[in-house]
Amino acid sequence: MTGGAGFIGSAFVRRRLAATTDELVVLDKLTYAGDRDNLDDAFADPATAARLRFVQGDIADATVVGPLVAEADAVINFAAESHVDRSILAADDFLRTGVIGVHVLLEAVRAAGAADGQTRRLLQVSTDEVYGSVETGTSKEGDPLAPRSPYAAAKAGGELLVQAYHVTHGLDTVITRGANTYGPHQHPEKLVPLFITSAMQDLPLPLYGDGLQRRDWLYVDDHADGVAVVLERGSSGEVYNLPGAGERTNRDVTAAILDRLGKPWSLARRVPDRPGHDRRYAMAGARAEALGWRPATGFEDGMTCTVAWYRDHEAWWRRRRDAAWDAYYERQYGQRLADSVEA
Ligand code: NAD
Ligand code: TYD
Repeated sequence: MTGGAGFIGSAFVRRRLAATTDELVVLDKLTYAGDRDNLDDAFADPATAARLRFVQGDIADATVVGPLVAEADAVINFAAESHVDRSILAADDFLRTGVIGVHVLLEAVRAAGAADGQTRRLLQVSTDEVYGSVETGTSKEGDPLAPRSPYAAAKAGGELLVQAYHVTHGLDTVITRGANTYGPHQHPEKLVPLFITSAMQDLPLPLYGDGLQRRDWLYVDDHADGVAVVLERGSSGEVYNLPGAGERTNRDVTAAILDRLGKPWSLARRVPDRPGHDRRYAMAGARAEALGWRPATGFEDGMTCTVAWYRDHEAWWRRRRDAAWDAYYERQYGQRLADSVEA
């Protein structure tokens, strides 16, 4: 699996090692978003450490990927540049990992199968953002892709390659489209951990535009379990939506965080909007439900656990809000906050 030192990938590692006797090899480049400390628990427990191997490397590097895929039974690709705002500032790495990297993985699966005659399933972890903004109703797997940010376009490009390799080269592939995910171990650049860790320090919470954009929030363990179910039971060549358990506006999410921390609404600031900001994502989940998966964690419980985790892991998030973070924060929010008004 790739991207296992990141947010959702590391949850998959923890849950997979606990639930099965699988051996996992994690290939991760350790970008600013990935850190081996997300795997500390798995390496600290002798029962799981013996079944986990970590390799630092780039999925777009065929010399690293080829031998690892040759010894694997399946390939699960979590690796991606994952933050929409960064894709607006510069998209190069999004395309390199999201399109070229996926192509390298597909070629490695094809070559390994040609060499030993074994089929290796490739699961591509994708996102509801490939559907674009959904004003009403819910997206179904057959709906057209209409990505509107460079991040979403790179994810859609990766998906299309996966589907092309299924049709043209007969690879055994499945794709998951997960909803906006939140929970422990998420990098503090994303809405939920940004607002939790900023509110804990009485820093302003920059709400883009009117804050009435809607997302369907999925707890990280549910996302990881959905990927596992599709890996095991999904039909080859298919796509599976993994919707969340609670559609909320960004204002609702902000209020839920402030409420749990006992902080005032006055920390929330209305700032100039994200360009091309998708108003709403919402997916239908019948296909994944037919495999036996649905999200188990409601929004209120999931948010309570998440806020508690950040409270208890201050050293973890402070390591990520470092000097490089300060430079990113200034670029992303400096002028916006200077122009902000009451939310
Ligand atoms: P993340 O940014 O926390 O983790 C990404 C991981 O991939 C990091 O460990 C990083 O070091 C690694 N990585 C990046 N480029 C790499 C490369 N070229 N080679 C090897 N490793 C590389 O992201 P996340 O939130 O855990 O997302 C995981 C996957 O789930 C992504 O594919 C993302 O598009 C998808 N997804 C995320 C969400 C969400 O809300 N976070 C929702 C739906 C789908
Ligand atoms: P984000 O976590 O970046 O996920 P995505 O853009 O992939 O949905 O953002 C979630 C929502 O929160 C999205 O509508 C943008 C909004 N947002 C803010 O209002 N302020 C912020 O500082 C950030 C990071 C996000």
